[in-house]
Amino acid sequence: MHHSVFFSMLALATAITALPSTSWDSWKRPSLVPGSEASINNLRQKIKNVVLLCMENRSLDNLLGGQTHAGIENPINNGPYCNPYNVSDPSQGYHCTEAKDYNSVTDDPSHAVTGNTMEFYSQWTPDNTAIAEGKLLPNNQGFITEQIHNYGSKANSTQLALQVMNYYTEQQVPVMTSFVQNFLTFNHWHSDIAGPTDPNRFALTSGTSAGHGTNLAADYTYEFTQKSIFQMVGEKNLTWLNYWEAAGGTGPDSMAYAWTNATNNEDKVVNMTQFYSDALSGNLPTFSYLNPSCCGVGTTSMHDSGLISDGEAFLKRVYDSLRAGPQWENTLFILTFDETGGFHDHVPPPLAPRPDNLTYTEKAANGLNYTYEFNRLGGRLPTFLISPWIAQGEVEQYGVNAFGETVSYCASSILRTLGYLWDFEPFNPRVEWAASFDHLIQNTARRDAIYTLPTPMNFTDY
Ligand SMILES: *[C@@H]1O[C@H](CO)[C@@H](O)[C@H](O)[C@H]1NC(C)=O
Ligand SMILES: *[C@@H]1O[C@H](CO)[C@@H](O)[C@H](O)[C@H]1NC(C)=O
Ligand SMILES: *[C@@H]1O[C@H](CO)[C@@H](O)[C@H](O)[C@H]1NC(C)=O
Ligand SMILES: *[C@@H]1O[C@H](CO)[C@@H](O)[C@H](O)[C@H]1NC(C)=O
Ligand SMILES: *[C@@H]1O[C@H](CO)[C@@H](O)[C@H](O)[C@H]1NC(C)=O
Ligand SMILES: *[C@@H]1O[C@H](CO)[C@@H](O)[C@H](O)[C@H]1NC(C)=O
Ligand SMILES: *[C@@H]1O[C@H](CO)[C@@H](O)[C@H](O)[C@H]1NC(C)=O
Ligand SMILES: *[C@@H]1O[C@H](CO)[C@@H](O)[C@H](O)[C@H]1NC(C)=O
Ligand SMILES: *[C@@H]1O[C@H](CO)[C@@H](O)[C@H](O)[C@H]1NC(C)=O
Repeated sequence: MHHSVFFSMLALATAITALPSTSWDSWKRPSLVPGSEASINNLRQKIKNVVLLCMENRSLDNLLGGQTHAGIENPINNGPYCNPYNVSDPSQGYHCTEAKDYNSVTDDPSHAVTGNTMEFYSQWTPDNTAIAEGKLLPNNQGFITEQIHNYGSKANSTQLALQVMNYYTEQQVPVMTSFVQNFLTFNHWHSDIAGPTDPNRFALTSGTSAGHGTNLAADYTYEFTQKSIFQMVGEKNLTWLNYWEAAGGTGPDSMAYAWTNATNNEDKVVNMTQFYSDALSGNLPTFSYLNPSCCGVGTTSMHDSGLISDGEAFLKRVYDSLRAGPQWENTLFILTFDETGGFHDHVPPPLAPRPDNLTYTEKAANGLNYTYEFNRLGGRLPTFLISPWIAQGEVEQYGVNAFGETVSYCASSILRTLGYLWDFEPFNPRVEWAASFDHLIQNTARRDAIYTLPTPMNFTDY
């Protein structure tokens, strides 16, 4: 244990102090200050279309854990990282990160608020005052404990440890590897909420889950009244569509908001198949929001019960259509994930300002109530910027927010950046605090960006 803590600290120190060693030509991007007039002007000049795609339930150390690219802090470059089988009894042993995870992980790891709390704090009901004062820090040691707590009675604990701790190799996820090598990867990007899917999707599209900490059947029935990105874009008279995988499972996220119905924008939810033809024919709106299908073999979101390779096939189709279409020249494709899905990541989630004064309470596995105050981020996620205006193979470390603070990026960084692009104010204090990434847009377009992505791995042959 002392070794893994020591190596984590060493890796963190290295990530902060080391200059990024990447293959991009730094002269192509003037050193723009995020949120400055020069940076905003550059962003507005270059980017006319935004495509935002949020996949499901993967941590950075899980999905990108085998990427050897310099600047990505992960198990293959800096690990291994270890977790005990039982946080209360280290004598039961440890499992450390290893190469190769399954195409489908059948025992869906917990991503409930208190499940996340065990994963990050090694306890279900930590002292919130100590957390807020910085006296109790997350140590990311509880991933196996939480998985065994949920599935230990029906599955082999070695198997359960492998499921949450292991990572995909570059060969297993060639589409991801291609994004890392050809575009920009964020090394410090966290979900807004240390909890499950729907609250994180609301935070992504409106900066808050309005106090929700769990998925509810009524989540996509126009019930949320806070302002969303869909409303903002609509009020700016910009065009938008919510492309949705008709197989269902996530969203459609625009249907969470009362505004969408009140203004008769229900017809903006369209079949995902239309995305490929709109991209190829140059008919994409200013803002394309993509909802993948979820949960189970044959769906596209990379949710653990589905196949990683099906998710890769979906991402390849999205990218290849964009790349072949006439709007590519002015497109920014933002690819992110909703939350970590209960998969291990070694980077402790930081504290962050609350978006509003709402809290969420649930009963934890120890029988006690735990109240989440939305004052800390969730786990670290894979997020990419993909565009001809993005440098090849760049890895972005920390951001600098509008207060001049060096902070980790989070889902609200997207709303912060789109606010600069389309001229709207941050929706709430969390979004205002979030670091924007407008300065990562170069002033020269790349003509040579990869034209078609590699074919996904066939795990049967592996
Ligand atoms: C973990 O260790 C504690 C303390 O020894 C024990 O009470 C608990 O039953 C153990 N949990 C499991 C799942 O083995
Ligand atoms: C992952 O996504 C699915 C689909 O939205 C959800 O049911 C599940 O709870 C999510 N996982 C976690 C850990 O929240
Ligand atoms: C548990 O799973 C591991 C990994 O698959 C395997 O090597 C081991 O034999 C299994 N143990 C039992 C008791 O089934
Ligand atoms: C959008 O269009 C409406 C109707 O034409 C108009 O009233 C409104 O001022 C426009 N808003 C902006 C921000 O241009
Ligand atoms: C979505 O489009 C595809 C291809 O045109 C079609 O097969 C499918 O039935 C459509 N789904 C819905 C729900 O309209
Ligand atoms: C949507 O709006 C219509 C009026 O345009 C209303 O009749 C309907 O009840 C609304 N649906 C929901 C789910 O709010
Ligand atoms: C939260 O409540 C405090 C005290 O009532 C108030 O000053 C603050 O503005 C509120 N914050 C938000 C984001 O509503
Ligand atoms: C947890 O909260 C619920 C709802 O407020 C309450 O009924 C219950 O008594 C609380 N449980 C404990 C252990 O405090
Ligand atoms: C994957 O490999 C297996 C075994 O070689 C083969 O039967 C199957 O058709 C392949 N699947 C795909 C999608 O290529």
